[in-house]
Amino acid sequence: MRIVIIGGTGHVGTYLVPRLVEAHHQVVSVSRASREPYRSHSAWDKVEKVVIDKEKEEGAGTFGRKILNLEPDAVIDMICFTPESAQHLVEALKGKVRHMLFCGTIWIHGYSVTVPTMEDQGINPFGEYGIQKAGMTEYLLKEARVNQLPITIIHPGHIVGPGWNPINPLGNFSPRIFTALARGETVHFPTLGLETVHHVHADDVAQAFAKALTNWKNACGEDFHAVSEAAVTLRGYAETVASWFNREAHLKYSAGDEWKEGFSEEDVEYSWAHIMHSSNCSIEKAKKNLGFKPRYTSFEALHESLMWLIDNKVVKP
Ligand SMILES: NC(=O)c1ccc[n+]([C@@H]2O[C@H](COP(=O)([O-])OP(=O)(O)OC[C@H]3O[C@@H](n4cnc5c(N)ncnc54)[C@H](OP(=O)(O)O)[C@@H]3O)[C@@H](O)[C@H]2O)c1
Repeated sequence: MRIVIIGGTGHVGTYLVPRLVEAHHQVVSVSRASREPYRSHSAWDKVEKVVIDKEKEEGAGTFGRKILNLEPDAVIDMICFTPESAQHLVEALKGKVRHMLFCGTIWIHGYSVTVPTMEDQGINPFGEYGIQKAGMTEYLLKEARVNQLPITIIHPGHIVGPGWNPINPLGNFSPRIFTALARGETVHFPTLGLETVHHVHADDVAQAFAKALTNWKNACGEDFHAVSEAAVTLRGYAETVASWFNREAHLKYSAGDEWKEGFSEEDVEYSWAHIMHSSNCSIEKAKKNLGFKPRYTSFEALHESLMWLIDNKVVKP
């Protein structure tokens, strides 16, 4: 198949593009060409790279046509964030491609009622990002189910891999928490640390997309979580990281504003957003319908990522 991937050089594309090439697909990666994938791979020599600025072309109303002109059998849009953006692409591609796949997020779910959260628990998002992605998902599922369009949405958890900062045990991206835990320093939590985060290795998200392509019949008209087998509690996460350095975690809870010390306003916002979502999602649907089987547990993915941060002197035990 000729597969066009929009945003092919990001976290997921870094792993998905080589997977698709190795499965003998013809792959076209669309981006602004402002960066390289996070990992080099010989498969990239076989990839057609096309420079298109999605935002700019969408604004001009020409993005969908430009993607269609690449003559895809399937299109994977990694960087769709709103219902309007999804509609623009779907209108251009409908009836002309075999499969349209979109990247969502587990934050289409706001507060969960029961956990692990199932895809059909109901979309009750909060925060602009989750609300827009939920709108995108609702629009796409309606098009798929009412108008019989071959659409699939994959919802990743917090994406982890070597090359970037993972969400830390305080729910933000600051790597200094890892340094503190590795040194046995005290870390303050705003809560009891029993909330959860649900990571996934970027290669496992890639696996979910690849398996949706090969299980077309089961994938069309459906959305799937792509997360590790089990979410982790913030406290358990901190204790596990400390144990990797033969340390005991020194954690303090409900410490007023003390926990904010040294964090930017953005870090604090990320922390609250992760705490409020407390993601803990089910992958039973992806396992059953796509044969999805994550290679990494959350801790395996985080360990690999942390070793990269240490090798690159971002984290200094
Ligand atoms: N990160 C997470 O933890 C997380 C969690 C859940 C869901 N998600 C979802 O994952 C998706 C992002 O995937 P990712 O993390 O693999 O991507 P990413 O690492 O953010 O990379 C984005 C990709 O899109 C390209 N790109 C960005 N702006 C563009 C534009 N205007 N026109 C054309 N190409 C553009 C980038 O290349 P250039 O910069 O060179 O253009 C790159 O290839 C989003 O839909 C996000 O909502 C992420």
